[in-house]
Amino acid sequence: MTNNLNSLEALTEKKVSRRDVLKTAGIGGVGAILGASGIGGVLALKERKAASPELNQDVVPFYGKHQSGITTKAQNHVYFVSLDITTTKKDDLADLFKEWTKAAALMTEGKAIGELSSNEFLPPKDTGEAAGLSPSNLTITFGVGPSLFVKDNQDRFGLKNKQPKELVDLPAFPLDALEAEWTGGDLCIQACADDLQVAFHAVRNLIRIARGKATLKWAQTGFQRTKQADSKNETPRNLFGFKDGTVNPNVDSDKQLNQHVWVQSGDGPEWLVNGSYLVVRRIQMFIEVWDRTNLREQENTFGRYRDSGAPLGQKGEFDQLDFKHKKENGEDYIPTNSHVRLSHGDGSQQILRRAYSYADGMDLKTGSFDAGLLFLCFQRKPSKQFIPIQTRLAKMDKLNEYTSHRGSAIFACLPGAKQGGFIGETLFN
Ligand code: HEM
Repeated sequence: MTNNLNSLEALTEKKVSRRDVLKTAGIGGVGAILGASGIGGVLALKERKAASPELNQDVVPFYGKHQSGITTKAQNHVYFVSLDITTTKKDDLADLFKEWTKAAALMTEGKAIGELSSNEFLPPKDTGEAAGLSPSNLTITFGVGPSLFVKDNQDRFGLKNKQPKELVDLPAFPLDALEAEWTGGDLCIQACADDLQVAFHAVRNLIRIARGKATLKWAQTGFQRTKQADSKNETPRNLFGFKDGTVNPNVDSDKQLNQHVWVQSGDGPEWLVNGSYLVVRRIQMFIEVWDRTNLREQENTFGRYRDSGAPLGQKGEFDQLDFKHKKENGEDYIPTNSHVRLSHGDGSQQILRRAYSYADGMDLKTGSFDAGLLFLCFQRKPSKQFIPIQTRLAKMDKLNEYTSHRGSAIFACLPGAKQGGFIGETLFN
């Protein structure tokens, strides 16, 4: 019995699914274990877990004022999908979001979305590949694109008057090389987790639930160095070998998040308050060309040192950018066409970058790697943040010699949901 209790406690603390707990307990007799500690004991343990974050180390709460996966510290992997809606009924959409909410809440706790049925002539509700895996800090973030509101001039779901002014297709930027198969979408799901199988399982089950209502349009995985490989938790490096993510709004400061990330009351529309706009760009990086470029040129391209990540002319990664700092010969340390100088601008436009690298095998046309950056950024007003920044970059960023924007989309990430409510409630009700 003691063994059973110990294993129950240990398993619960390892955040395993209810089915696993019962399975293990079953070795010594489910009846016995429930009889002794009682279901109440199991529930009490669960409540204790919910109340004490240290016991919940790899669960990110799904319900809340904002959706998770935006200010959440970036997990090791992303599985991002864009979807086309196939139903013509608004009620179907609301039902879909209700079902998605329930399933997402379960999966972020590491639970299956349904128990194995005793009817072996039915397919199992949950696809099963995450059984026994920890929740892995899974977050699932839902967004809606401009075409949810109006497509081919049609007010598809009677939602036209709810379309935010900021939620319109991005303008075409110079040098854009967008491909239809990586562009746009009516809905998006961003699943991030420290385990790719957990992230994939989440998306797969959500897509399965959407059958008859929405289908996949495009999908992209992304990775960062894992937490396991980087115990010092330094800024991750992109595929050009540079630290990427040094300058970002402080996610612990409500003031900064309200200023730069969350849609505020009065911004319009009210249904999106506490949500955020997501801009996604699939940016191919010509790593073979980069690898033939000398170090000085590489550092001048970003305006930072490769090794330390410090701004050119300075020592520490987190030193303030100093554009007035000149070398002895009178040249600027940080070139005027460098990526950080142009993206920083006057410092007033800030976006929350949450990018992941991707490596998708080979580009069959060129025989080179198809690799790059799945650039994901969140903001309060794209017209005042991403668009002016990208307008400057597209014109003269030195980085453009080594990159090409292949995919693009914009979504409004919905506000968070309360327990008992659902994601999208403010839009569909
Ligand atoms: C493959 C494409 C890109 C790569 C490899 C890249 C890489 C980098 C690197 C290494 C830094 C410096 C370190 C840091 O602060 O994180 C940086 C900064 C930054 N990047 Fe990018 N970036 C890319 C695309 C973009 C795009 C498309 C945008 C927005 C339109 C953007 C916006 C920024 C911003 C706002 C900063 C911080 C500037 C500041 O210091 O205030 N980047 N990026």
